[in-house]
Amino acid sequence: MSEKEVRKVTLHTLKTMKAHGKRAVFLTAYDYPMGKFADDGGVDMILVGDSVGNTTLGYTSTIPVTMDDMIRHSRAVTKAVKRAFVIGDMPFMSYQPSDEIAIKNAGRFIAEAECDAVKCEGGRRVAPRIKAMVDAGIVVMGHLGLTPQSIAQLGGYRIQGRNDKEIEMLKDDILAIEEAGAHFVLLEAMPPRAGKILHDAVSIPVYGIGVGPHVDGQLVIVHDMLRMQSADILKKPKFVKVYADVGKIITEAIAQYAKEIRDGTFPAEEHFYEVS
Ligand code: KIV
Repeated sequence: MSEKEVRKVTLHTLKTMKAHGKRAVFLTAYDYPMGKFADDGGVDMILVGDSVGNTTLGYTSTIPVTMDDMIRHSRAVTKAVKRAFVIGDMPFMSYQPSDEIAIKNAGRFIAEAECDAVKCEGGRRVAPRIKAMVDAGIVVMGHLGLTPQSIAQLGGYRIQGRNDKEIEMLKDDILAIEEAGAHFVLLEAMPPRAGKILHDAVSIPVYGIGVGPHVDGQLVIVHDMLRMQSADILKKPKFVKVYADVGKIITEAIAQYAKEIRDGTFPAEEHFYEVS
């Protein structure tokens, strides 16, 4: 696609897509090359997730990820992206303490990292924060279901919305964040029935990761769909389809490089500089 033909995806584009029943393609990215691959591959939305902690920084959870980590990674992605709508994920304790802290940190995603929107986890209890950020002029995505920042309270990485009682509570949450002004919502790790009930309860776009088909678009973590982890830490969630085994390709390429250095095949004559 030429520079001229690129039309940036906006909030309006995403609402129009929902109105026309067009599913949005949503993927995570954490750095410049992956932001460019995702944009060139035609995704509509990119989440710079705090899953950068697990996928890229070697942490076992998202909890240690800081605002400075998120700004650095988000900025790298937005530098690469021309078309996709980029959402910066607010890390643990960057919005929970107060409206003022939430606005200040959300503002950093927009001003310093040039994101199009921010995402924060939680339902009724973060509704006032969402309202404060929206009132400050920021586009906000809510996030319900399996919310990794509350993993201790949820009792681990467990499917949410498993029965009517849980779905009712989630319904109260999604209505509260819609009422607070959230522009869209992400649902994570629920049976398709829960996904459908929550999707149908609101008029804003609802996207899903591991919630089945009855939503306005699908998200996956790019490292999962490309198997881009070393084999020893690889764990594939049930809802992920693997499209390429990039981890294997990288490991084999590096092993070949090591072999060729050791046996003298590399560098060969064509890799030498010549001075006449
Ligand atoms: O950080 C992230 O990538 C996320 C997704 C798992 C939804 O929040």
